[in-house]
Amino acid sequence: MIPKETIEEIRSRCNVVEVVGSYLPQLRRRGSTFKCNCPFHQEKTPSFTVNETRQIFHCFGCGAGGDVFRFVMDYEKIDFVTAVKILAERAGVEITYEGGEPENSGDKDSLFKIHRDAAAFYHRLLMEGVEGAEARRYLEERDLPLEMLKEFQVGFAPNEWDGLMKRALKKGYTSEQLEAAGVVVPSERDGKVHYYDRFRNRIMFPICDPMGRVIGFSGRIMNKAEKGAKYVNSPESLLFHKSQVLFAFDKARKPIVEARQAIVVEGQIDAIRCHQVGLNNVVASQGTALTESHARLIKRYADEVILVLDADAAGIKAALASSEIFIAAELSVRVVTLPEKEDPDSLIKKSGAEALIERVKEAPSALDFLIDCLGQKENMGTEAGRMRVVQAAINLINQCPSAARRDSMIHRAADLLNISSSAFSQDLRRDQRKQRPASRRSENEQPALSSQKTYPRQETSLLELLVHHYHDVHPLVHDFLPAHYLTDPICRDLLELLMVDLPEVLTASFHDFDEETQKVISRIQVEESRAIDAETLPIELAQQYILLFWKRQLERDRGALVQRTDLSNEERFKEVTCIKHDLHSLSKGWSQALPILEARLHTDL
Ligand code: CTP
Ligand code: MN
Repeated sequence: MIPKETIEEIRSRCNVVEVVGSYLPQLRRRGSTFKCNCPFHQEKTPSFTVNETRQIFHCFGCGAGGDVFRFVMDYEKIDFVTAVKILAERAGVEITYEGGEPENSGDKDSLFKIHRDAAAFYHRLLMEGVEGAEARRYLEERDLPLEMLKEFQVGFAPNEWDGLMKRALKKGYTSEQLEAAGVVVPSERDGKVHYYDRFRNRIMFPICDPMGRVIGFSGRIMNKAEKGAKYVNSPESLLFHKSQVLFAFDKARKPIVEARQAIVVEGQIDAIRCHQVGLNNVVASQGTALTESHARLIKRYADEVILVLDADAAGIKAALASSEIFIAAELSVRVVTLPEKEDPDSLIKKSGAEALIERVKEAPSALDFLIDCLGQKENMGTEAGRMRVVQAAINLINQCPSAARRDSMIHRAADLLNISSSAFSQDLRRDQRKQRPASRRSENEQPALSSQKTYPRQETSLLELLVHHYHDVHPLVHDFLPAHYLTDPICRDLLELLMVDLPEVLTASFHDFDEETQKVISRIQVEESRAIDAETLPIELAQQYILLFWKRQLERDRGALVQRTDLSNEERFKEVTCIKHDLHSLSKGWSQALPILEARLHTDL
């Protein structure tokens, strides 16, 4: 449906390093390639590699790989056509479809567009519409400056049942698409479905994905006296999963990477206020419980999380629950408590940004916080009271997957609770046996190596040699290595292809290959492996590989001979001896082996 030239045009305008880098800002140049931790599996040292010259990526850890389209498909979990549309928009390429635009109501692409248009509509009303006058006044009273309203594209939803819907229908969206986006709500009357705007007469906070695309809204009431919830949020949709997004993450991402630290507050207004005063690594949980998805998202960019929560009992409980989740994701956690009845917004307004910054600096670790909170609640004079605190500390420490981290937590807890570290560790181990905390982690963790198909290393290395030193290596491989000597079918097909075509074919027809082949293509192109060093010439290396594959083939042949019943013992013996002799010659190096290869290739014909 999308013409091939258009796809090529988009590809040529979307540099893979820039696109991947906008998803993964920690991507760094390392020599001739770019590297960072792989987004597709958990790892501590970067094996995710992007090659700018060849416009591909490959992860040596989990085998993920492909071109710029494949990256967007895998990262966003979308199909090829949607990835093409997203990159087309990014590159400013207009897609003209062969045979008209497809009509699919619920796809991600149209939902992105609806959100983008809706956010612009709400924002315009707030900034200049007559309808937005009261909202403007409200935000002015709350001291939110215009530049922040612009930066966060804050808006106003008019007090109408179809303010947004009318315009969206005019723009060509269908009611079904608007419903799938969650901006209109269906209702049934007289057996007929009608739709009305979900957000009415509210201040609108667009919620963005980490790429800065609007995927949902949170709408706040302006007048306390008014009936209805204080906040109305977008429902779950194809784009919006509340348990996975953090408000302002798109804007906080770079500062989080730089500080290796993320500060989590509760409300959107709190986050906006923090950004206003220069605390730019702040995101908001938007009132929901923090989840493992949130933890994983942050873990990609930071080593430490600062939780800023209300001082009330609910806030403390939430802080402890969140600490467990973040610690389980191997993040360091510290907890900021605010003065009673304050949130970050009110604290900053009252006492300035320094007041919050100071509290962040001095925030105790989650463990210290827990022992302190429970210590105040329990009667530490009694054995039972103390043991409850000990148990709570053990539960928290047990979340931590790293033994080294656990060890330092144990020492700290033992210190604070006045117990010997060895007694503490014993209790901890007893507890670990009872309930493996790993169960919580294992279900969501992507398998790294287990699901990866492994390819024979030497076969991919030979292909690598061919790709990187084509003109040196091609004639030799062409003349002396039958492709069927390779055992992996994908490697064999690629070898055959490279015998009749130039390596450029791999990039030019990338999307004509199946997904597994795409992975191998990326792998062999992304960088030269260490097997190809400076001391051995590519030709010599190719000779070594050719001999290796010959040896393996002859050994297979010898094995097959033993099975053959159509041969007399004498014939079999003769053949086996011949193979043995040839194998011996092969092991003496290229010049000794050459006559054998030639003779055998000749008789094969
Ligand atoms: N929240 C929500 N639904 C509600 C109440 C709260 O989704 N009915 C979320 C919102 O994201 C809100 C956050 O929880 O920002 C914190 O709630 P609250 O402290 O009540 O609101 P504030 O953001 O502090 O709003 P304000 O300062 O304007 O009162
Ligand atoms: Mn508030």
